[in-house]
Amino acid sequence: MSEAKKQTILSGMRPTGPLHLGHLAGALPNWLKLQDKHECYYSIVTWHALSSEYMNSQAIRNNTFEMAVDWLSIGLDPQKSVLFIQSEVKEHAELHLLLSMIIPLPWLQRVPTFKEMQNNLPDKDLNTYGFLGYPVLQTADILIYKANLVPVGEDQAYHLELAREIARRFNRIFQPVFPEPQMLLTEVPKLAGTDGRKMSKSFGNAIFLKDSAEVIRQKISTMVTDTRRKRRTDPGVPEDCPAFTLHKAFVAKEIRAELAKSCLTASIGCLDCKKVVIEALIKRLSPYWEKRKYYEQNPNLVWDILEEGNQKARTAAQKTMTEVRQAIGI
Ligand code: TRP
Ligand code: SF4
Repeated sequence: MSEAKKQTILSGMRPTGPLHLGHLAGALPNWLKLQDKHECYYSIVTWHALSSEYMNSQAIRNNTFEMAVDWLSIGLDPQKSVLFIQSEVKEHAELHLLLSMIIPLPWLQRVPTFKEMQNNLPDKDLNTYGFLGYPVLQTADILIYKANLVPVGEDQAYHLELAREIARRFNRIFQPVFPEPQMLLTEVPKLAGTDGRKMSKSFGNAIFLKDSAEVIRQKISTMVTDTRRKRRTDPGVPEDCPAFTLHKAFVAKEIRAELAKSCLTASIGCLDCKKVVIEALIKRLSPYWEKRKYYEQNPNLVWDILEEGNQKARTAAQKTMTEVRQAIGI
């Protein structure tokens, strides 16, 4: 990527719950870095949340607020990035509809996440028209800003490939309106949750950014470690320790190497080892907690910032939609 050339970036998160350490280790630092160099659109994708949470739709508004507070407090800057709510930019819905006219049904039926999510969330009926169209809506999110780069994790690779295919098909059938968006792969270190499984809000094992220092201390102190260390004198293997996945993400390399050595030789207790990552996290999150307090006390400010973002997004989206309607001829 050339230094001078500004790219248009778009990414989104579903407002289904507070952000956790997985986000802090993966998406967020990446988004922060990008906003200094590029034109970034970051969307709270309310309609995507609704596609799986329609039975609990009342929670989406508060989750949207919470997500905005999380974003602002971690340093996403409304002066640099457009922070907006998907469902406040109705043009996304129009583009979604128009794209749906040209997408062959099998393209959607073979999307792996369609079946996966249904299997992973058996208590939710995801066999809906809206959920099948999930990647179409995601494509609309991206194409409506003519985004070149989409920072996402590996799990979104298929959706991005589909977005590219849809852009090509639109350009071929009508007129060349859309650039083909590239995936900007975010390396997400594998973080374990408190129970040793992958950290995930739905497993109830997550450590949230908004957790207090006390809660973080308590969650990590009781977190699963390498099962070899039944006694203080038993050596352990950091590579097999769920807690050590946190060290890998949040503790400086040299310190981590020392701890690993001490674990292998049983010259440190797990609690002392964990204290290092606990303190690192508290240090890292303290500025975030300060800012969070401020935004929580000024909810109107948060909604105003989002409304400003919605307006900027609308302006860009409307411009593209004029071209889209012209290309189609309606
Ligand atoms: N599907 C994405 C996820 O679950 C969220 C998303 C919606 C998105 N629209 C997007 C990501 C557009 C990137 C670009 O993480
Ligand atoms: Fe895990 Fe640290 Fe305990 Fe080793 S000493 S098992 S790395 S918590």
